[in-house]
Amino acid sequence: MLSTVFAGIELKNPTVLASGILGTNAELLLRAANSGAGAVTMKSVGPKERQGHNNPTVAVWEHGLLNAVGLPSPGYKEIEEEFELLKKSPVPVIASIYGANVSEFVEVAKAIAEKKPAMVEVNISCPNSEMHGQLFGCHADSGASVISAVKKEIGEIPLIAKLTPQALNISEIAKACEAAGADAICAINTVQGMLINIEAHKPVLHFKKGGISGPAIRPIAVRCIWDIFEAVKIPIIGLGGVSNGRDAIELMQAGATAIGIGSGIYYQGTGVFKKVCEEMQEWMKANSYKSVKELVGIAHE
Ligand SMILES: Cc1cc2nc3c(=O)[nH]c(=O)nc-3n(C[C@H](O)[C@H](O)[C@H](O)COP(=O)(O)O)c2cc1C
Repeated sequence: MLSTVFAGIELKNPTVLASGILGTNAELLLRAANSGAGAVTMKSVGPKERQGHNNPTVAVWEHGLLNAVGLPSPGYKEIEEEFELLKKSPVPVIASIYGANVSEFVEVAKAIAEKKPAMVEVNISCPNSEMHGQLFGCHADSGASVISAVKKEIGEIPLIAKLTPQALNISEIAKACEAAGADAICAINTVQGMLINIEAHKPVLHFKKGGISGPAIRPIAVRCIWDIFEAVKIPIIGLGGVSNGRDAIELMQAGATAIGIGSGIYYQGTGVFKKVCEEMQEWMKANSYKSVKELVGIAHE
């Protein structure tokens, strides 16, 4: 009932651990894989080790999270061992990469492709670093130049372009990525925001601004997935604020083939994958759907 195919890769269910939530550590990623996720995404890695920002980097507020972790990452050279350990994963492993310019993306893509992940996600949408990586995801031309350069390096490995909801016209970016060789789209990354502690009259996060995730951004995700689905033929990992089966089904009806879960793990732990799957199944039985594939984009009909 829940099995599907995403960019040619078989998934036992459509739920995917979102990038950045459990780092690049194999043990944590395997925990998500063994807790029922249909696939797991590693945290984005770049060319060199990055420390990330000072604390506080994550704030929990009433409708979601605000984070500016600042892409702390070991750099691709330091995670060889994690890839070895991840060979034990019972589900596909998606590597995620970032860079400050096209040549950095190419350098990382080349090294990561040798590790043969099931797919490579290209993060052209991070709002929280000084590198302004998000610019790639806000401009069709520069986004496409990253995607075509990375695609040349990774060859047959499916490439997922991860987009930002902050692009003025996300369908244009998705179309440009598809034309540049992307095999799939992931939408959305976090939405830029800020919170102020009014007693301290200071921003809550050390980096001041951050990315909003969790329930607050679900309607933004639904709109972006809707627009992308109408613009491209390649499949979409929809994510943004999914915490139960109904949320997942909503994103699928907007056009997602697979469903990413990030902040849901902060609130519910890795048990969220099994819970979302069970709730999806219950809803499908009650509404006479036999396969999750039937749900993709049906709100457009
Ligand atoms: C603490 C944190 C770190 C994140 N790190 C990354 C990252 O390294 N790469 C990336 O593409 N997205 C990253 N994201 C974005 C998530 O993958 C996801 O797109 C976003 O949180 C929306 O989904 P959600 O509402 O289910 O959390 C991060 C999100 C959070 C909360």
